[in-house]
Amino acid sequence: MEQTFIMIKPDGVQRGLIGEIISRFEKKGFTLKGLKLVSVDQSFAEKHYADLSAKPFFAGLVEYIVSGPVVAMVWDGKDVVKTGRTIIGATNPSASAPGTIRGDYAIDIGRNIIHGSDSVENARKEIALWFPEGIAEWQSSLHSWIY
Ligand code: TYD
Repeated sequence: MEQTFIMIKPDGVQRGLIGEIISRFEKKGFTLKGLKLVSVDQSFAEKHYADLSAKPFFAGLVEYIVSGPVVAMVWDGKDVVKTGRTIIGATNPSASAPGTIRGDYAIDIGRNIIHGSDSVENARKEIALWFPEGIAEWQSSLHSWIY
């Protein structure tokens, strides 16, 4: 099965949106495979966002990510990378459709409450970065037609 890395950013944690966000992924039918509340330091945040290091918003983005604990998760399921991005909504919450997480709960691109991997390859890299200890494998005991 495909996996993606999802992170609830510090504002999502502090605004009490952890349960709501997890619930949306669960109800869609995805399976939670890794979960932890963690505070990261500047060099870790810079590594996570290394592709954006030349952007003018990079320093502010890193400052935001280290400003409080985040919830790091691995979700598993069919097309979870692409569908996860659909559930999250567009990068700029002003352009995110209602019904998406950012569309429903955010207004500022610099405080958009959640991250989701943008490709299967980046998901693999991000899961390795955030979960160096690995992910415990488990199989649902439900019948395969219940997801
Ligand atoms: P990006 O990877 O382009 O978006 P996404 O998170 O939707 O994959 O950018 C990473 C984060 O950087 C984004 O979630 C919010 C922040 N950001 C800004 O603060 N200003 C900007 O102009 C952009 C494009 C992103």
